[in-house]
Amino acid sequence: MRTSFLISLVLFLALSVCNGGQLKKQFYADTCPLAEEIVTSITWKRVATNSSLPAKFLRMHFHDCFVRGCDASILLDSTTNNTAEKEAVPNLSLGGFDVIDEIKTQLEKTCPGVVSCADILALVTRDSVSYQFKKSMWEVQTGRRDGALSRASEASANIPSPSFNFSSLKQSFANKSLTVHDLVVLSGGHSIGVGHCNFFSNRLYNYTGKGDADPSLNATYAAFLSTECRSLSDNTTTVEVDPGSSGSFDNHYFKILKLHQGLFQSDAALLTDKGASNVVDELQMNSDKFFTEFGRSIKRMGAIEVLTGSQGEIRKKCNVAVNVEKNRSLHRFWEKAFEVEWCSLDKVTKRILRNSDYGKE
Ligand code: HEM
Repeated sequence: MRTSFLISLVLFLALSVCNGGQLKKQFYADTCPLAEEIVTSITWKRVATNSSLPAKFLRMHFHDCFVRGCDASILLDSTTNNTAEKEAVPNLSLGGFDVIDEIKTQLEKTCPGVVSCADILALVTRDSVSYQFKKSMWEVQTGRRDGALSRASEASANIPSPSFNFSSLKQSFANKSLTVHDLVVLSGGHSIGVGHCNFFSNRLYNYTGKGDADPSLNATYAAFLSTECRSLSDNTTTVEVDPGSSGSFDNHYFKILKLHQGLFQSDAALLTDKGASNVVDELQMNSDKFFTEFGRSIKRMGAIEVLTGSQGEIRKKCNVAVNVEKNRSLHRFWEKAFEVEWCSLDKVTKRILRNSDYGKE
């Protein structure tokens, strides 16, 4: 009886380690106590001289989480046999990768092999947007681990298009377990940054086939945009996503949305559903509510399909995956030899086995 209880307990503990865990506050409190301070100080230093970074990171975090979960797959470079997410069309205008590299280099010096690139991206996003307020705008839970795969085709398939109507947007967010409320609140990310003309210029010229602009776009604003974007194929000019306030993270985006000045069709689409448009109304009236709700929704977005516990890996450089395949076959070799699960072994045994020559190709 006692023995079978002990066996069940050991199996339960091994399984819970193997299956990973949850994100939590201050995951690095013991293993790398300075991690969050290092991220904040480098991020604030860089944002102080480059005000476009908060928008870059906010979008990068969103695009990371919607493809294979928040696993920093967006940061991986292409290899000879694989085109990475970075090279998919929606990701070509991302930026700020050098800031992530600077942070990772510093963290590897301070506590090697501990802090994941996925957590760095979630923290950098919060800290860069928070710079304007000189305080943390939302809580970031940590404990994410890094993925090893990044495919451009998956980015194109999962990142919503600016030409989506409401039902496609709703579906795209539902696929990631996010609600219509999250969709509206997170679209408030369009409170900062810029958009390239080619993502919305179809709304300016011959929209319904009668040489007109999109009737859901404010006519004066459409005329202004036409003076900025000279042709349908202009993919170099950018305009503010939140006209008049795109340097400041606030609820102004919801005000201009009500005035039919949402830049993309996907922005305008939020007014075409009663439930969504009610949320727009609430947020445009109440700035505090926007900040609170944004914090809640981005926390949910930051938890999409995360790898935790013994899943995934901790990269040494954020643009290169650890060779997980090699490790896996090594683990399989020892699992067979000992008839145990690799992840149930203790750290010292793992290290000894890894360093042995057996099982290596
Ligand atoms: C709802 C579906 C969404 C669509 C279809 C969409 C689409 C786009 C597009 C086409 C751009 C312009 C990119 C460029 O021209 O370089 C853009 C910019 C941006 N998006 Fe979204 N977006 C969506 C949701 C979000 C969410 C959820 C966030 C973050 C929470 C976000 C944050 C941003 C930011 C900050 C920018 C400005 C980027 C910069 O200045 O470089 N977007 N979005």
